[in-house]
Amino acid sequence: MADRPFIVGNWKMHGTRAMLSEARAIDRAAQRHMKVEVAIAPPYTLIHPIHREAGQIGVGAQNCHFADEGAHTGDISASMIADAGAKFVILGHSERREGHGETSEIVKAKVEAALKAGLRVILCCGETEATRDAGNAVPYVKDQITASLPKVDKAGDQLTIAYEPIWAIGTGKTATSADIQEMHAEIRSLLVELFGAEEGAGVRILYGGSVKPENAAQILGLPEVGGALVGGASLTADSFMSIALAAESSEA
Ligand code: PGA
Repeated sequence: MADRPFIVGNWKMHGTRAMLSEARAIDRAAQRHMKVEVAIAPPYTLIHPIHREAGQIGVGAQNCHFADEGAHTGDISASMIADAGAKFVILGHSERREGHGETSEIVKAKVEAALKAGLRVILCCGETEATRDAGNAVPYVKDQITASLPKVDKAGDQLTIAYEPIWAIGTGKTATSADIQEMHAEIRSLLVELFGAEEGAGVRILYGGSVKPENAAQILGLPEVGGALVGGASLTADSFMSIALAAESSEA
């Protein structure tokens, strides 16, 4: 149901099996908020345990390799995470682009591999503070999306975009409402250009970067904000589900 707000927890490199109780609490709470689609992308090691227990929430991964198998020590393929129970994968996160040298060309190959494995994709994009200060945020993000996307048949079902200004991730800073609105509107027109009116309109555009219970209602109430990609505040059921509740209220 791509019309529901999508609230996704990106646990990054946090969580051992001790965190399963938090995932259970999130799953239980999600059953009371069915107007919102709630999902977690835990570290690889927790995908299968959470998938086995979850009744309501979706489980995804934070990355995958572009090859299906082979001599890639330490890597994991899209079909492997799908086999573990993942339904989606986050690709092109700035921590992968910056910390692991992932170019948009590599991200595009990963998106292709993920779709082939039957996974939905959350494609991340976002500018640095210097790019925004120079007034180039919109063209930069549009180019990044265009370069990171292959042809997608059913974009509305298979694809989600997460706009995450890099300078807002984990910093406590968030973009202004006006900047978020402008960027999301520009992304929407690009999606319509790339995938046509119907499919392009069906792709949810999430905002990410220091989304917290305190600012969630304001951000999620903005036009073209179809949900949130949440890092730090997704690590406890209490704060994560407050954000889901804000998403549900923004729908009312
Ligand atoms: P943050 O992370 O909510 O901790 O800023 C968001 C993200 O990187 O997806």
